[in-house]
Amino acid sequence: MTIYLNGAFMPIEEARISVLDRGFIFGDGVYEVIPVYSRRPFRLAEHLQRLQHSLDGIKLKNPHSEREWTAILSELIERNAQDGRNQDQYLYLHITRGVAKRDHAFPNPPVPPTVFLLSNPLTTPPAELLQSGIACITVADNRWLRCDIKAIALLPNVLLRQAAVEAGCAEAILIRDDAFLTEGAASNIFVVKNGKLLAPPKDNLMLPGITYDVILELAAANGIPYEVRRVTKAEVLGADELLLTSSTKEVLPITQLDGKPVGNGKPGAMFAKLHPLYQTFKREVMRK
Ligand code: PDD
Repeated sequence: MTIYLNGAFMPIEEARISVLDRGFIFGDGVYEVIPVYSRRPFRLAEHLQRLQHSLDGIKLKNPHSEREWTAILSELIERNAQDGRNQDQYLYLHITRGVAKRDHAFPNPPVPPTVFLLSNPLTTPPAELLQSGIACITVADNRWLRCDIKAIALLPNVLLRQAAVEAGCAEAILIRDDAFLTEGAASNIFVVKNGKLLAPPKDNLMLPGITYDVILELAAANGIPYEVRRVTKAEVLGADELLLTSSTKEVLPITQLDGKPVGNGKPGAMFAKLHPLYQTFKREVMRK
């Protein structure tokens, strides 16, 4: 496996960073996860825009132009796609505020950021999972108020996901103030009621998902009724269907919530419409 670190490509075993890296010490950095299909990054411009938003959010200068990022990502993809294998990958892109003596305030003068990229094989959910759906729990969203920043400091998300795993579930659905839906621990969540797709608004309390945008675009283009607004906890608990989206999971049906079936406990009509639309969209983008 070849990784990228601060200007050089190398085997992962050779990669070294300082113990004083502010990512290690403070979680002072941001990241992106970008799916790659047939060796092409999916929605690259949108991922790079979100990266810029995250960097602005933590007041860190973007170390590369869009053209430079594109070149680095392309080379990483090619180096990890040997012999026709590994055509589908997911790229992990990570930038920290660099290496400095431990002090909460930013280093002054600034130091070079640490830039790290990794490619992993992308395995999208298998057919059995799409047929059975996944089980989730609801938990209180106890994260900070800048969840729109894709921060590497993921301890709250880690603990929330672990709570789901310990309950025998795949994901935690996060409820803010015991009142409304935000998102999943590492995904966005949609509610379906009476044939309508309900999506929480992209504000400071959730990550603006790239897959979330694709789903709403597909709904708009295909005459599927949808509404973007606050979704209440009661609407989550009384949903006909629940859907989970993320770059690596694409779109998944949630068929159990807090130990009870969602709707009739099987993937529903909205999932049956959106999943093929997503697959077709993906293939069309890849052929362009
Ligand atoms: N997570 N919300 C959170 C908190 C996330 O961590 C993610 C993705 C999403 C979905 O965003 P997108 O559709 O752009 O992947 C929403 C990635 C996959 C991760 O951390 O591995």
